[in-house]
Order: sequence, then C-alpha cells, then structure tokens
Amino acid sequence: MNPGPALIRGSCLQPGVLASIKRPSALRSISSHMPQISMDALNPTFEKVQYAVRGELAIKAEVLRDKLKEPNHGLPFNKVISSNIGNPQQKGLDQPPITFTRQVAALMEWPELANLAPGVFPKDVVERAKELSEEIGSVGAYSHSQGVPFIRKNVAKFIEERDGYPSDPNHIFLTGGASAGVSLLINMLISSPHSGILIPIPQYPLYTASLAQHQGRPIPYYLDEANGWSTSIDSIEEALEKAREDGTVARGLVIINPGNPTGALLDESTQEKLVQLCEKHNLVLLADEVYQNNLHRPESHPFTSFKKIVSKLESPVPLVSFHSISKGVSGECGRRGGYFECTNFPEDVVALLYKMVSVALCPPLSGQIGVDSMIRPPKPGQESYELWKKETDTIHAALASRTQSMSKRLNALPGVSCVDSPGALYLYPQIKLSEKAREAAKAAGKEPDAFYALALLDQTGICVVPGSGFGQKEGEWHYRLTCLCPGVDEYVGKLERFHLQWVEKYGEE
Ligand SMILES: Cc1ncc(COP(=O)(O)O)c(C=O)c1O
Repeated sequence: MNPGPALIRGSCLQPGVLASIKRPSALRSISSHMPQISMDALNPTFEKVQYAVRGELAIKAEVLRDKLKEPNHGLPFNKVISSNIGNPQQKGLDQPPITFTRQVAALMEWPELANLAPGVFPKDVVERAKELSEEIGSVGAYSHSQGVPFIRKNVAKFIEERDGYPSDPNHIFLTGGASAGVSLLINMLISSPHSGILIPIPQYPLYTASLAQHQGRPIPYYLDEANGWSTSIDSIEEALEKAREDGTVARGLVIINPGNPTGALLDESTQEKLVQLCEKHNLVLLADEVYQNNLHRPESHPFTSFKKIVSKLESPVPLVSFHSISKGVSGECGRRGGYFECTNFPEDVVALLYKMVSVALCPPLSGQIGVDSMIRPPKPGQESYELWKKETDTIHAALASRTQSMSKRLNALPGVSCVDSPGALYLYPQIKLSEKAREAAKAAGKEPDAFYALALLDQTGICVVPGSGFGQKEGEWHYRLTCLCPGVDEYVGKLERFHLQWVEKYGEE
C-alpha cells in the first residue's frame, strides 16, 4: 500500500529508495486505516457557502480564456471580457496602479533601492518610505496584531479630517482587505442559532457567505429599484417583523454605501433614520464603505460616512465602518489591505476583537502600507502630487463616463432598465425575460438570468454575474456588470447586438 505523498515528503529518502525498503508493520497498519476524506465528513457550513462573483460564469470564462490560446479555437470572439468582478488591475481591465503607492511599496520592500537608484524616486516618496521604515522595520516581520500603531494613527487622522469628529487609533483594526473584518464581525455577532443580520437585497455575496459559514440567519430587506435602489426604513421594519415571527433575533444591520451591486448612495436624512432605527431595535450597524471614493457625480451625490452621522447625532449605536484599498482609485485588490473602525464599542469588546485578530498574528504588511498610501496621498506642493492628481483624476473620469454611457445604452435596449449609478463600480440592469426564454432556461436546468448570462458569455466573451448571485425580488431578473472595462464602445456594442438577437429569438415579455 502507498504510504501517501505526505509520508514520502516527510522522509528524507527519495521515493525510489523508499519503494525498495520493506515497510514496518506499524506503518502498514496506520496506512490501512487511513481515513478517506469525503464531503459528508466535513464541516457542513462549507457546502452552504455560495459566492457567485467567482461562480459558474467566472469558471466558464477561465475555460474559454484557455481555449482562446488554441490556434483554431472556433470561438466567436477573440477575448474574454471580465465584467464580473470589481478587480480593477486584473489583466484585461488594466487600471494602472497609482505610481505613488507602488513607489512607496517598492522602497518598503527593498530600502536599498533609494541609494542604488538615486534621483529615480521623488523626494516625498523617499521621505515617506524612510518614515514608515523607522516605524515598521522590516516588512518581513509580524506587526502588532491590530496593525502598525503609526498607520492606525494616520487612519484616525484621515477619519477626523474626513468627518470632523474624533477617532481613536486603538479602536481601528487594520485587516487583510475589508472581507476579513466583515467575516470576523459577523462571526462575533452570531451568538446563538437564532441570531440574524439584516442584509440588503441585492447584496454583495460576502454577507450571505459569511452568515452561512458562521451559522447566522440572513434577514433580507429589499432595496427600492424604482427609486434608484434607495434604502427604505419601512422595508427594514417589515423584515424585522418577519424575523421576529420566525424566531430570529436581529443583531446587526448591514448597509453597503455606496452600494454593490446597485451603485446607490444614501442621503444624510436616510442615514439619520437608519441610525435611529438601530437605536430603536438595539442593532449593531455594519457600514460597508469600501466604495466611498468611487463617486461619479459627487456634487449631487456626495458620500457621508456613518461615523459622521453617529457622531453628529451623539448616538450610542455601536458602529463598525469598513474601508479597503481594493476599490476607490487605488484598486490594490491583491495586496489585501483595509481597516475597520469601531465606534461606541466597550473596551472589553475591543479587547476581545484584539484577542481574535491575534490568533492570525497580523494583517499583511503590504496591505497595511497600501492603507497608509491611500489615506495619506501626496499633498499639493510635494513632488509626487501632480502625477498623483493626474492619475486619480483620469481614473475617476473614466469610471464616471463609462458608467453614464453604459447605463444610457442599456436603457435604450428593449426590455432592459438600468439605474444610472452615482457610485461604486457597477451597474445592475433589470432584464425582462419572456416565457419562452424562461422555459428554455428551465429545460437547461438554469435560473433564467444565469441562462441569459451564459449565452452572453458563449456568444460574446463578456462575463457578467447573474442577479441570482446577489438576490432579487421573485420573478425579476438582473445581472451585474462592472464599469471597469476599457473600450466601452466595442464592449457595449457586442452586448447590444447579443441582446437584440436574444429578443428576436425569445421575444419580449
Ligand atoms: C461591498 C464590498 N465589501 C467588501 C468587499 C471586499 O473587499 P476587500 O478586497 O477589501 O476584501 C467588496 C469587494 O468587492 C465589496 O464589493
């Protein structure tokens, strides 16, 4: 019997040598009782987790991408367009990284570089890296589990300048992306099998996935598409009422602002009502604000943080605010950087969180440094400022113009309606699907919107995520596409041609 690759790796013998040795009987009996790994012997919550952003469509897109490498691939397109994921620097989307961020990162990785390449790095970059190095030392060492204290102080200053209210660095946790913080907080709030968290529908599937993993109950409340995907207090009250009837104890309210997948932005008066609702129902407010810097029409649709609202109202509502380097104009998804700030949290709860993050030792240093560059960009008058301004303005302008032109063209298609998102990186159009299309989907064993999205991928190479991955009202169909793809004319042109052929084939609803 084969002792298994782990045993071969564990020994200092070559596999060939091992084969010629008669194995001791103890080893033989261990190996004959080696447990088989099988799905029914694993944590059942793993199977319940769903994450559509990297689901069936994304997997098929990868297969097609590989096929395109074959000389006679026979596909009706020459490239796969990844419109499924908000990963700005992904190959094909190619949002350039901010030079300042990368220069600081380069000098942090290899401080010698500043001396080896004199004059290459702007003065403010060299000074910034020196300052960070003095605080951090080597990026190869574990940091404080909550994140480098100096960087947390800088985050607190950023929050104070943004909101005009104090922020405590000891209540800030640097994280490996916002996801790590969201999962931790959801885990913490699920105190019994009856605990539930209010989540918007449509939602970013991190929330349902984390709830499934930590055995919490999702309490869905619906966003109002007819009113630009606004958040209605009544719909949350209704959801709470229904939860109570089901014996679910609501522990928290998730708000994604600006929204994913909707791109909607909350106005301050709604935010105030939401804080009051949390007070009334004793809820922890989980404010996912990772898109706070993705504003396409900031004059008419500005961003206000929940920290500012809670502080202004002097509300006792416990609030956790999440931010990330993955979005905005930084787009540094792969560095895994973010933070959360706890407001109105008692010290013993903060200490408990600290204990829990200590188990994973520390967030990645590359991500922590990325956070520092995001919240401390160059200032006017510094050598890096002009380039930083040009790069960030270009990204903002491209996102705003793509979003506007895509929503306009989608709205002109028969059976399609699309809210012109004022923020984030996505559009979430609704598509009417005829009975004939729904029947064809049923015959193929697919949800109607997944059937539509699969056909779109097969015929054009455009990969989107069906609405069923984010949630939608019964009998409605959507898909999410990102506004990150360059070459909008060619891309939307393909989408339009596909949709018109679809309508010709299946008819309108
Ligand atoms: C609303 C929302 N929250 C959190 C995240 C997670 O981001 P991060 O890369 O910081 O983990 C995303 C990623 O797309 C998101 O859309």
